Amino acid sequence: MKTFYVTTPIYYANDLPHLGSLYPTIVADCLRRYKRQRGYETYFLTGTDEHGINIQRIAERKGVTPRQYTDDIVAEFKKLFSLFSLDTEHGGYDIFMRTTEPFHYQGVAELWRRVAASKTPKGNDAIYKSHYEGWFCPSCAEYKTEDEYQRNEKPGEAPSCLVHLKPLDRVSEESYFFRLSDYDEALLKLYEDPEFVQPEGRRNEVISFVRGGLQDLSISREKRSVSWAIPVPGDPGHSIYVWFDALINYITAIGFGNEERERVVGFEKFWPAVHLVGKDILRQHAIYWPAFLLAAGIEPPRRVFAHGMWLDPNGRKMSKTLGNTIDLDILHRYFATDAVRYFCLREMVFGQDGRFGYETLIDRTNSDLASGLGNLSSRTLTMIARYCDGRVPSGKISEDKLLFAKRVGVDTDETTIAGFAEHARDQFLHDFDNFAFSRALEVVWSIIARVDKIISDAKPWDLAKDENQRQTLHAVLYRAAETLRWLCVLLNSVMPEATQGIYTQLGLVDSLAQLDPADLKWGGLAEGTQIGEVKPLFPRLDKAKTMAEIRNESEGSSTSATAPDPNAASEAKTKPLPPMRRATEADAVSGGEGVTSFIEIGDFAKVDLRVGQVLTAERIPKADKLLLLSIDIGEEKPRQILAGIAEHYEPERLIGRKIVVVANLKPRKLRGYESQGMLLAASVGEEGKPVIATFAEEVPNGARLK
Ligand code: MSP
Repeated sequence: MKTFYVTTPIYYANDLPHLGSLYPTIVADCLRRYKRQRGYETYFLTGTDEHGINIQRIAERKGVTPRQYTDDIVAEFKKLFSLFSLDTEHGGYDIFMRTTEPFHYQGVAELWRRVAASKTPKGNDAIYKSHYEGWFCPSCAEYKTEDEYQRNEKPGEAPSCLVHLKPLDRVSEESYFFRLSDYDEALLKLYEDPEFVQPEGRRNEVISFVRGGLQDLSISREKRSVSWAIPVPGDPGHSIYVWFDALINYITAIGFGNEERERVVGFEKFWPAVHLVGKDILRQHAIYWPAFLLAAGIEPPRRVFAHGMWLDPNGRKMSKTLGNTIDLDILHRYFATDAVRYFCLREMVFGQDGRFGYETLIDRTNSDLASGLGNLSSRTLTMIARYCDGRVPSGKISEDKLLFAKRVGVDTDETTIAGFAEHARDQFLHDFDNFAFSRALEVVWSIIARVDKIISDAKPWDLAKDENQRQTLHAVLYRAAETLRWLCVLLNSVMPEATQGIYTQLGLVDSLAQLDPADLKWGGLAEGTQIGEVKPLFPRLDKAKTMAEIRNESEGSSTSATAPDPNAASEAKTKPLPPMRRATEADAVSGGEGVTSFIEIGDFAKVDLRVGQVLTAERIPKADKLLLLSIDIGEEKPRQILAGIAEHYEPERLIGRKIVVVANLKPRKLRGYESQGMLLAASVGEEGKPVIATFAEEVPNGARLK
């Protein structure tokens, strides 16, 4: 049996999943479902990248072990992925790979040993020990060259990473190097296959990068600087560089270096893989990774496809750093899973950047799904129920009724619609095979438009009134129902739930996951099939209402995220508030009327309260009520927080003061400034005068309040 192995990048386990992690996983899931339909034995990997200095530092700050920290993050990933039908239970990924798995440690050590024992194509040792001196970004897990950082204007201060805008670490230590510079010719040979790196534009970038000359790669850190890592085999004072460790996950997951996994999954069976990666990590996948594999004598990946980035409506890449990501929880609660999956494949041309906006998602849901696919399905099935006693009618028209059919414009020859559908099917297969998902879906929607037109031209509701037009009516409904069957098979990989729903309503029982779109033949829907209960699939979304609710929710969370709103206290009196706020602000406003609703301890534990110290405080032009504060809460960089206290506090009086900060609230932009948290204050008296919470005893910055 032919095999197909697809992977997403493994996501840094330093933060919760967002659209950037959902997107590649949805695409990989669709691709794997498609290949499974096409008769391949498939394997689909996603997972988390859990080692490195970044995670080590976050865990230290949180006072937990790195493993405890990543366990929590992984639980969130799995929960959210399951909401979008991406987990094993929903027919999604086969493995949620974690680099903390013991079998991964084994495989990484094995690969290191193999590479260390090998010679480069130019006859040198592939790994050698030397000294590294340079700048390192913990968030990118990358060493940075001069053109990849921004110098600090203050002499002696570290430069900043251009991606994360955070100061870089100076690294000056003994390190193992991979002799990447000796692999240029071997790599250029690989790129001769135009399918190896895609799309074409990215392939050209990679080729010119390699032609420009490769530098050897530092692949270890001293353990005293990075301890949360896999140790270098035979030299435990050194830790393996996180990218060397992470890339190898693609082979350890399927059995490289571990007999048990090889038996259960099969490295021999599934390798090489198709890697879907963001364009920001193409270099690691198209240059470092094949070079490591070449050194170890292992076949390179089958294909590395670089997709584009989701941008916010202002055209900036969505990222946790910028705080402009999409909340997956909101996405899940307001939109059908299949609508989100469809949107991801339809809206973004795979390989190019795309803008994400809730409004566009609502528009696509309403036009393509509710009015398009959903409406075709419900009206066809409703008419079959009404005019044909719920049984699929015949599509044939007898000689003596041909003229009647022609009179109302019905194309009597079924070969026309069949020919159209077959052509569209072939185009769909071609596009999907070439990862042109958006175009493939556009083609499918051309079939929907065609059948919609057949229905609206023929007007079955009028035909039903004329006995002479009974066959015409049946022919129209058969064409529509047979098209629906085709649509279910074609779209199953993208919308597994909705298509299975339509299929069942058509009275069909097979599992769509097993049906190959290439086998679709016109006329497969048997006359007389008893249709099932007709149910609406994609309810129309009221755009204004949905947008208002989403906005309200996002703002609701970021009102508390920043607490700069001086009206918050009076709002608390009039608006129903979630329990958390009732128990705090409302009490303070009223002078303590008593708690009206209780929360669980787990709810309270979700709020990360930290001791902070005000470093700077200033007024904001044209914003009488707001102060812009920078606050040290024990992190690498101070937090910038906006607070609605300017009418009650002179900025100078606040400097040096210890306060309480809600550290895990979603950042929010106000007056052009991002507020990265909220400070706590009692709200006193009728006009809700803020009185900042503080400490009577000495406390260190960053200490957690419990
Ligand atoms: N851990 C590494 C990958 C190691 S693979 C052996 C990593 N992790 S990441 O979490 O930072 O990024 C994972 C993927 O998410 C990348 O492919 C990245 O391009 C993708 N995305 C992050 N933000 C994105 C968007 N705004 N839009 C689309 N994808 C984006 O890099």
